[in-house]
Amino acid sequence: MIKPLTEGELVQVIDTRGKRYQLVLKARSSFSFSRGTILHDDLIGVEEGSVIRSSSGERLVVLRPTLAEYIAKMRKGSQIIYPKDIAAILMLADIFPGATVLEAGIGSGALTMALLRAVGRAGRVISYERRTDFLEIARSNIELFFGRVKSAGSEGSGELIVKEQDVYGGIEEKELDRVLLDLPEPWRALKHVEASLRNGGILLCYNPTVLQIYKLSRHLELKYDRSFRVMGIYELSMRGWEIKGRSMRPEQRMIAHTGFIIVVRKGSFTA
Ligand SMILES: C[S@@+](CC[C@H](N)C(=O)[O-])C[C@H]1O[C@@H](n2cnc3c(N)ncnc32)[C@H](O)[C@@H]1O
Repeated sequence: MIKPLTEGELVQVIDTRGKRYQLVLKARSSFSFSRGTILHDDLIGVEEGSVIRSSSGERLVVLRPTLAEYIAKMRKGSQIIYPKDIAAILMLADIFPGATVLEAGIGSGALTMALLRAVGRAGRVISYERRTDFLEIARSNIELFFGRVKSAGSEGSGELIVKEQDVYGGIEEKELDRVLLDLPEPWRALKHVEASLRNGGILLCYNPTVLQIYKLSRHLELKYDRSFRVMGIYELSMRGWEIKGRSMRPEQRMIAHTGFIIVVRKGSFTA
């Protein structure tokens, strides 16, 4: 059953040009944009997917934002992992319901939210972050998404444990199923990951430059070849297409490069 929109929810309205606006519904409030004003009261109580009209007659459709749409508009402190990479990371790191996952750093919380949904109610996400300001931004992004987006799945998401700690200094947790590192020098955390990741566990690192990936893979090869094995190194491209009448072609703009993903497995590998 589709639940009607309620006061306090974060929703998005889409105009006829496809422009999207996100707003938190508040009784007796209004929202103005280039094509008129809409009253929040016109949205409260209607079903997701409904049409409303602005003061100037513009037709808008109201929807709850998806996680990817929310990430695109949320407040950013750090650079984030883009949804196209997050989607692949969930599969390549084999994030499963009930998993205990450690990530560092939390940044703006983009990956964290996807992890919380993927590990499900029985799972745990432990996030290390050394910057207080980023931690606060991530915390408020995560709270807003799970607290105010009714389709976020907060009831089914995992437990989040946030630690203001430098992961290069050590990892307290043991028997981790997965470790995801999105920070500049992942090789500096390898000693701790080796001690904390369970056998069979997966380490996935995300880095924007190939020099970082090269340095990481050299460390793995020279110092950790008995306990880690690189399973794959990937880069993902996603290009949108548009169809306008008889013109069918790729969109002119795309985010060409984001980062490399390296997937590493822990086990008792012989030298
Ligand atoms: C690129 S951002 C992470 C973005 C995050 N994955 C997201 O999707 O929003 C890198 C983060 O790692 C943090 N960081 C860097 N070195 C760290 C360390 N040694 N321990 C913990 N956090 C660290 C930075 O402060 C920054 O917030």
